[in-house]
Amino acid sequence: MTKHLLLGQTIGFTGNPLLGDWPDAVRYEQRGALCIIDGRIAAVGAADALRAAHQDANVTDYGNGLISAGFVDAHMHYPQTGIVASWGKQLIDWLNTYTFPEESRFGDPAYAADVAARTLDLALDHGTTTLTSFCTIHPASVDAFFTAAAARNMAVVAGKTCMDRNAPDTLRDTAQTAYDDSKALLEKWHGVGRAQYAITPRFSPTSTPDQLAALGALWAEHPDCLMQTHLSEQLSEIAWVRDLFPAARDYLDTYETFGLLGARGLYGHAIHLEPREVDRLAEIDAAVVHCPTSNTFIGSGLFDLMRLAQASLRIGLATDTGGGSSFSMLRTMAAAYEIGQLRGIALHPAQLLWLATEGSARALHMGGQIGHLGVGAMADIVVLDLASTPAIAQRSARAEDIWDALFPTIMMGDDRAVRDVWVAGKRR
Ligand code: GUN
Ligand code: ZN
Repeated sequence: MTKHLLLGQTIGFTGNPLLGDWPDAVRYEQRGALCIIDGRIAAVGAADALRAAHQDANVTDYGNGLISAGFVDAHMHYPQTGIVASWGKQLIDWLNTYTFPEESRFGDPAYAADVAARTLDLALDHGTTTLTSFCTIHPASVDAFFTAAAARNMAVVAGKTCMDRNAPDTLRDTAQTAYDDSKALLEKWHGVGRAQYAITPRFSPTSTPDQLAALGALWAEHPDCLMQTHLSEQLSEIAWVRDLFPAARDYLDTYETFGLLGARGLYGHAIHLEPREVDRLAEIDAAVVHCPTSNTFIGSGLFDLMRLAQASLRIGLATDTGGGSSFSMLRTMAAAYEIGQLRGIALHPAQLLWLATEGSARALHMGGQIGHLGVGAMADIVVLDLASTPAIAQRSARAEDIWDALFPTIMMGDDRAVRDVWVAGKRR
């Protein structure tokens, strides 16, 4: 048995601060402790009490460091790491100019392995302990990602991105090969160690109805898998979907018709939704994923967080790199705050931190297992330095409570704010 005691300020959640009275949903200790036994959280509480109860533990004292569940990125594209922050395009032009040429390189297993390792290390540097990633059409890109994640013992979700139209020859599969490859990869990886497979049609414009139907059939055969895709990100994309699927009631209908609407579905962006789409997503208990740095970077629009939270949708938070412009979930929380302000609401730091941990974990149907600072969860932990730069330090020095101390790090922090990371109970 390995037993660790981490001392510092601890912060976690017992409820959803987006709904109801948020202070009741927060569990904070100024002089707190976390006990980890064999990779899982065994206790969270006051430092003195846990020290007395666990005298045999290895102790790491982080002083004023803030101990939180590690961040959970609910939507990103590891093959786009090399083209992050590419200038001057909106969605469709950005895909054609930057993304598709880069993704074409991932048939090379050595290149895929290199980028997968780099991406996972960048994520850990930024305090992100779970990534949910699109791969490319190449099965080798999926093997590379799951292999690199297993080497780091990280809980990840990923799948082969399927496209059989409106993409270059180098990136097109077919309805049948998408089904066959996805099935083989799912059987190889789903539930192996900490890996979860997500069936992954890129988005309706790059799949024929036959391919969408084949992937819908695969999901029906494997309903315990997640399914990830994109939904209603940009207005020009929605107009294109309308042209390609004239019989569809709306964008969501292009998935629903082919068996790709379900509770374990992750719908990235979901910005410009029709009332029917919101109602249907809520009825099904599906998840939408907010990607705020991407939405501003490629000019998509303002996600309506409160409308969707009030409709009781599961909502995750994500970087969407490389459409997103940062690997940092702190920067992502800051962008969510900024988009909230543009919609007339000020998200509380508790709500932002909840989205980046518990909210994303719930979207992935892994609530209580990851993104959670509570007994029984895997010990995927980030320890934040709330005075990581001179600018942040001079601001947090005058903070009157933990939220006032945390907010400058959310707004101005980056990987320098990440003091330590633990993955499945092991210090990185
Ligand atoms: N829609 C379809 N593919 C993509 C992608 O790679 N990134 C983003 N942001 N949107 C998409
Ligand atoms: Zn995406």
